[in-house]
Amino acid sequence: MNRSDFLKAILPIAAVSAFAETAPARKTAVVFYSWSGNTREFARAIGEATGADVFELEPKTKYSDSYSVVVKQAKRELEEQYKPPLNSIPDVSKYAAVFLGTPNWWGTMSSPVRTFVASGALDGKRIIPFITHRGSRWGNFPADLKKACPKSEIADGMVLWGDSVKKTSARRDIAAWAKKIRRIIFFKYRL
Ligand SMILES: Cc1cc2nc3c(=O)[nH]c(=O)nc-3n(C[C@H](O)[C@H](O)[C@H](O)COP(=O)(O)O)c2cc1C
Repeated sequence: MNRSDFLKAILPIAAVSAFAETAPARKTAVVFYSWSGNTREFARAIGEATGADVFELEPKTKYSDSYSVVVKQAKRELEEQYKPPLNSIPDVSKYAAVFLGTPNWWGTMSSPVRTFVASGALDGKRIIPFITHRGSRWGNFPADLKKACPKSEIADGMVLWGDSVKKTSARRDIAAWAKKIRRIIFFKYRL
């Protein structure tokens, strides 16, 4: 008898559905921004491994496809701490833990992620950061995230070089890390 059949045998139907509603996978979300696709692959791999719901941040005004244009714009936006309006702020209120992903932009989170963290949506949540980069690794992302979300707990994250995320070995590592960190969080908070 598997776990679900066992539960059905010993619990009334209402209680089984209530249990399903609060099953761990339902309590985890993945929120990310990606300009050229690497962080999107990373986010999808986490979603596939954990069953988490995945939300992509979309700036109201799409960034240029030109690398040199977006690099200059991102520098200006960082200096001005500009928060580009998004099409929507994902509602993560029902999730206890949120994987938050960004490309490294000028040594920290990308501008759309800055908008999301400034919205307060992550207040009181457990945040699991992940980042893709081309040399600067985490940069100031964890420190800037902590400053922006002082009421949240920030778990150990994962960092990957650029498009190495597309390698099968990286996808295996992502799956193993994502499942492990989720287990640790749910155990720690008895969720
Ligand atoms: C605007 C911009 C700024 C960047 N700044 C950095 C940086 O400071 N350090 C770094 O290692 N990589 C930097 N990169 C490279 C990206 O972090 C890297 O290519 C990342 O994997 C892209 O993720 P994405 O495909 O999800 O957009 C920058 C890329 C862009 C477009």
